[in-house]
Amino acid sequence: MGRRTIGPASSRLGRVCPVGMSLSHRALATPVAIAFQGVSDHSGLYKFSVNESDRFWGAVARQRLSWISPFHTVQNCDFSQGKIKWFEGGKLNVSVNCLDRHVHTSPERVALIWERDEPGTEVKITYRQLLELTCRLGNLLKRQGVRRGDCVTIYMPPCPLAVASMLACARIGAAHNVVFAGFSSEALADRIRDAQSSTVITVNQGVRGGKVVDLKRTVDQAVQNCPSVQQVLVAMRTENTVAMTDRDVPLEEEMMKEDVVCEPVAMDSEDVLFLLYTSGSTGKPKGLVHTQAGYLLYTALTHRYVFNYHDRDVFGCVADIGWITGHSYIVYGPLCNGGTTVLFESTPVYPNPGRYWEMVERLGINQFYGAPTAIRLLLKYGDEWVQNYNRSSLKTLGSVGEPINTEAWEWYHRVVGDGRCPVVDTWWQTETGGICIAPRPSDPEAEIVPGMAMRPFYGIKPALLDTEVGEVLSSNDSTGALCISQAWPGMARTIHNHHQRFTETYFQPYPGYFFTGDGAYRSKEGYYQIVGRLDDVINVSGHRLGTAELEDVVNQCPGVAESAAIGYSHDIKGEGECLPKTRSGKIMRRVLRKVVERNTDELGDLSTLDDPDSVHEVIRGHQRLR
Ligand code: WT7
Repeated sequence: MGRRTIGPASSRLGRVCPVGMSLSHRALATPVAIAFQGVSDHSGLYKFSVNESDRFWGAVARQRLSWISPFHTVQNCDFSQGKIKWFEGGKLNVSVNCLDRHVHTSPERVALIWERDEPGTEVKITYRQLLELTCRLGNLLKRQGVRRGDCVTIYMPPCPLAVASMLACARIGAAHNVVFAGFSSEALADRIRDAQSSTVITVNQGVRGGKVVDLKRTVDQAVQNCPSVQQVLVAMRTENTVAMTDRDVPLEEEMMKEDVVCEPVAMDSEDVLFLLYTSGSTGKPKGLVHTQAGYLLYTALTHRYVFNYHDRDVFGCVADIGWITGHSYIVYGPLCNGGTTVLFESTPVYPNPGRYWEMVERLGINQFYGAPTAIRLLLKYGDEWVQNYNRSSLKTLGSVGEPINTEAWEWYHRVVGDGRCPVVDTWWQTETGGICIAPRPSDPEAEIVPGMAMRPFYGIKPALLDTEVGEVLSSNDSTGALCISQAWPGMARTIHNHHQRFTETYFQPYPGYFFTGDGAYRSKEGYYQIVGRLDDVINVSGHRLGTAELEDVVNQCPGVAESAAIGYSHDIKGEGECLPKTRSGKIMRRVLRKVVERNTDELGDLSTLDDPDSVHEVIRGHQRLR
């Protein structure tokens, strides 16, 4: 088995930038312990973090981040205007925080383990090498005309050059817009146009599950309809050549001509770090905006405390970098903490359903972070695929993206973790930037109830609101709309070019609160359990789909007058999509859901419908479909 470390051909040591080095490096070596004025137990510290949030976040920000110049105001937030600002006056560079300061202390520590599609062909990249790649790419982007404030679209599978591209943007002050490399050319074009990118970075081909995917071809199709695009940088993931036009730039070839030193730009705390598009219940996908300091701090802190991450641990998050999970817990959180993070290129079943656990053994993964949909799929293949491999390195098992049902939770805990590893069900969203509710933000002995996200992280003050009258439900053992009552540093700042949509979606439904779109139950003990979306967002395999977008597509089909997209419960995916057609009448998602779940006896009140007969048509249609 070829285990290799690669690096740029030249072994010239990348010169580390001195910027921001006033900070002592003590903070980075801090073990998993956090204390303020002698308060170190979870509940005392949690209370301090929400009641004295300025003092809490101010101290943590000074301790954990390297600043070029210090901030003067910890927070300046007003939910009624959707105004969220943290650490104003402060200047820093995110890539310096994620790279240079670790190169100072441990240049040969492995930053990335690229777990390529074929098992046993992983590639390790040290902090020194990743800084070099990032600097060369930063210089190349500048040579190509990318300036501070521009937005670069990245359409790449998880790989070191994708991470270096993100960090190169951060180094030169550009924002990035990573688009999941499974999206269609239309979806990619929409996002490039909305972000107005002049530059796209991609690979010739992707490799996943033994199959080769022509990603460059998808980019070619997309950019035909994107007048803003002036160049496409193409990295070579496979050896196959692809057609190159005048617009295309061979990435490796050109970056090797660049210097390994690239001055980091001093960014304001509230400058944009990235856009990330996600589905809402109406309209086009929204480009959520995350900024520099608050986002970085929040991902680093949650990464350390939710997963109990210690220096030198190997952190294995098997998400794709195209989702927020990848941004926060493959790239920014782990690298800010000087960690070793895995980039998983493959699938849970390639070449067989033992892939995850074979990888855990081979790479010595300490924290494994995955999605319930994969766990539900794997448990059907049986325990042997797990037990064949040594999983003694595992310490924490994480779950994200959708509710984890008890059967999957128990299996994950009992079989994968041999009953030794806490399972942390982490609730959060693209909008929240990082984990907001999770079982053990700090206390490794804390109780965990299967299937419950349990407790808020530091600085997060959840509230349940009555969906009918909008009042706060203050007692336990109640269910309501999950809201958060005060700002935290990791939250999104706006929707790109649509601030009004931002305030309408998140702050107007329950004035004074950030509304998550989810419903939740708070138990007698005060623990939280996520119930699911309250709006028309469908969660398929942990991925968000907007009903409006699906309907848009179906309505373009000849012969379709109107359509409604709904989610129905699905054994593995959580929810499946269904697209029943009605000839007339309103779109009745509540009713459709019952139809698809075969609860036609419980359709409820149909008297408000324009045409009750349409329901029977749908039922008949659905029976034919089955
Ligand atoms: C929506 C956010 C968070 C990164 C991946 C998804 C659902 C997320 C959980 C969980 C129950 C969950 C919610 C949320 N969700 N985590 N642990 N338990 N539901 O990010 O695409 O922005 O989706 O995913 O409905 O609102 P996203």
